[in-house]
Amino acid sequence: MSDKLTIDTHFPTLIYKIEKPEFLEVAKKVSLEFLEKRKQETTLDEMYPCYMTEPLNFDSRMLDFANYVAQTAWNILKEQGYEVENISTYFEAMWCQEHHKNSLMEQHIHGNGNQIVGFYFLDVPDPAPRVVFYYQRLSKVQISLLEKNKNDLTIASNIINYDAKEGMLMFTNAYVPHSFSRNISDKPMRFIHFNVQVKPNNFIINNCGSKAEII
Ligand SMILES: [Fe+2]
Repeated sequence: MSDKLTIDTHFPTLIYKIEKPEFLEVAKKVSLEFLEKRKQETTLDEMYPCYMTEPLNFDSRMLDFANYVAQTAWNILKEQGYEVENISTYFEAMWCQEHHKNSLMEQHIHGNGNQIVGFYFLDVPDPAPRVVFYYQRLSKVQISLLEKNKNDLTIASNIINYDAKEGMLMFTNAYVPHSFSRNISDKPMRFIHFNVQVKPNNFIINNCGSKAEII
């Protein structure tokens, strides 16, 4: 049979990325300060060799970065077809993670009303941990057949991984599970992780510029 069927592709998983090195200097400075504070309060855990800071989005120096991320998240939701004219994006969380040798981030999603999640990479060792995203329809994952070649990205694929790069900003929908592979370098990997929620405009409280302006 050689008939060519028409294919309609629906319900894709979207991963957004853009290089924004202009935020690096301030984001690194603030993150290192917050990490230093954390290191004064605790010691590095042998089993989970990772430091996580307090929220960064309340620091006024992060205003430009926070505004850009919140606005971009709003734009993404609009482009995806959601009704966003009367809602605004704001941060449920924005914090820095410093992963030392053998640290990893296990697969997870962010509930609690989050809509968009993402990363901003500050310091990336060589070799770098892989940024991993997972197919989110569990029924498909559960019945998956063996893939002919796992190195090929195909409709059969359930996992995609990316190179992290300093200054790169990534976004995806909050329902997409994600993880990081183990850091096998002697140098730490640092990135900002953020979770973006939405609220009706008349409920928004401006938490240090994280409210997006609707343009
Ligand atoms: Fe996460």
